[in-house]
Amino acid sequence: MSANGSDHPTNLQESAKRHMWLHFSRMSSYAGHDMPLIVRGEGPYVFDEKGKRYLDGLAGLFVSQIGHGRTEVAEAAARQAAELAYFPLWSYAHPRAIELAERLAGMAPGDLNRVFFTTSGSEAVESAWKMAKQYFKLTGEPTRYKVLSRDIAYHGTSMGALAITGLAAIKPPFEPMAPGGVRVPNTNFYRAPSFVADDLNAFGIWAADEIERAILREGPDSVAAVFLEPCQNSGGCFPPPPGYFQRVREICDRYGVLLVSDEVICAFGRLGYYFGSQRYGYQPDIITFAKGVTSGYAPLGGMIASDRLAEPFLHGETSFLHGVTFAGHPVSCAVAMANLDVFEKEDLLGNVRSNEAAFRATLEQLYDLPIVGDVRGDGYFYGIELVKDKATRETFSDDESERLLRGYLSHALFDAGLICRADDRGDPVIQLSPPLTCTQEHFTEIEQILRGVLTEAWSRL
Ligand SMILES: Cc1ncc(COP(=O)(O)O)c(C=O)c1O
Repeated sequence: MSANGSDHPTNLQESAKRHMWLHFSRMSSYAGHDMPLIVRGEGPYVFDEKGKRYLDGLAGLFVSQIGHGRTEVAEAAARQAAELAYFPLWSYAHPRAIELAERLAGMAPGDLNRVFFTTSGSEAVESAWKMAKQYFKLTGEPTRYKVLSRDIAYHGTSMGALAITGLAAIKPPFEPMAPGGVRVPNTNFYRAPSFVADDLNAFGIWAADEIERAILREGPDSVAAVFLEPCQNSGGCFPPPPGYFQRVREICDRYGVLLVSDEVICAFGRLGYYFGSQRYGYQPDIITFAKGVTSGYAPLGGMIASDRLAEPFLHGETSFLHGVTFAGHPVSCAVAMANLDVFEKEDLLGNVRSNEAAFRATLEQLYDLPIVGDVRGDGYFYGIELVKDKATRETFSDDESERLLRGYLSHALFDAGLICRADDRGDPVIQLSPPLTCTQEHFTEIEQILRGVLTEAWSRL
């Protein structure tokens, strides 16, 4: 019997167009052509329903760290489903969640020791904000509720996380926003203000000090937390300038504001460390994580808080008044343990650290193309900014960007066998975040496909 419950085989394309509602997707764009259907994965490659192979240059959606088709991880999931498929973390615990919490606490920087599981990154961010608010209510600073985050940064889509997200364009349909979201500048050095445009260190100090100015403007006793990614994804990979996070840490300490490191993308090897904050040498009060913790073999997210933050919740009648049914799902926790075993067995952090310079150098070869303005990132996490004029850094108009990214690049890269992201939520960029198992042959394949498609894109402008 087929998926439609009849004896007739389902036409997946037709059925998808009739019944599926894709996320952040213009459904109208599938009227005239097929919806991309990915049916199978193997290592860093995935395959469509016709058997065509694609290099998964985005690790799905910054998720598939160990690559696809790992039977040992699938088997761990099956074993756990047979042993205990589900039990909630509402007043119960189960062995896999306990083991994983202990393992994550051991890997996390400094005194981050207490793990609150969720199922996704948005829930992790939402939980961190709610926890910060309740923490300040419990500790005698009930007026602290605001959150600072950076321009264009993406922190998720649930109403709280959306208020933290810095992408103005995805908010209007859902206004009014939850109150308290405040924006500060990001660390896009390519677009730095002119007075710090030729001094990366000065730019970093300025960007960090903007956080202090925002805290003072809002009133320090109203600010609960600042949410920052180690390397900001949206906008096309903005690494922190040297000293930036150290300065931010000082500012947070000065005003009693919590530093939340949103590592939904940057944790679990993406930057060559278990946590992005370890790469850049700063100590957060909370880390939010999701995605790579399971490499996508099951959904899981969470936040790791310091003992200091957990402490007021651990006494008497107090509890953190927050929870979700599937948080810390036993199958997801078993999968996370098996995923981390693969990290250790295959030294995936070592693979990223020893190959990241080669990845960067291979992508930098694209600088000979007139459309490539900036190549930036760290680890296995890169953005390539596309420009109309390299000398002046002039970007594309909205109309050109629409034609270039949506009208041509996204389809052309996919047709050429590369999954990556052509994104214009800031200036137009192509984003790359391949599985952590990739080596030079994959970097070369990425570079070759990009070279061909970007050359053609330029000739069409
Ligand atoms: C930094 C960051 N935070 C939060 C989220 C939201 O995660 P999710 O899509 O799992 O809800 C994302 C998703 O990409 C993210 O990149």
